[in-house]
Amino acid sequence: QATRYEAEGSGATCTGTVDTNHSGYSGTGFCNGGNTDSAFAEFTVNASAAGTATLSLRYANGGTTDRPGDLIVNGTRVETTAFAPTGAWNTWTDRTVTVQLRAGANTVRWDPTTAGGLPNLDYLDVTPAD
Ligand code: GCU
Ligand code: CA
Repeated sequence: QATRYEAEGSGATCTGTVDTNHSGYSGTGFCNGGNTDSAFAEFTVNASAAGTATLSLRYANGGTTDRPGDLIVNGTRVETTAFAPTGAWNTWTDRTVTVQLRAGANTVRWDPTTAGGLPNLDYLDVTPAD
């Protein structure tokens, strides 16, 4: 069963603005990170036990080029997520990654690696393995 962390919610840090001008988002808006390599997004994810979990980050990239970002879990880089174009800012898709979490609070962060910054982010769903 997934726990949802909205990118505009209290359990997240959005380095940018919370916007509502592109439809299809969950919650009260989405995170529009600044177009700079310093505009990270971070989620505080609670896990009841240590172990494997599936992260599913919903994003939209209406631009024409990738918006790559390093996925960093508890300070350790897991991958560089490409965030390929989705065709429109109101076309949302999911990037799913399996990670290891510790019991209690975890930090899940995407750090853009280029000056374009991140795509728009809607939410992070976290599903622990059975
Ligand atoms: C447009 C779009 C924003 C998006 C931005 C970007 O301004 O409306 O939602 O964040 O492009 O290129 O990052
Ligand atoms: Ca943006």
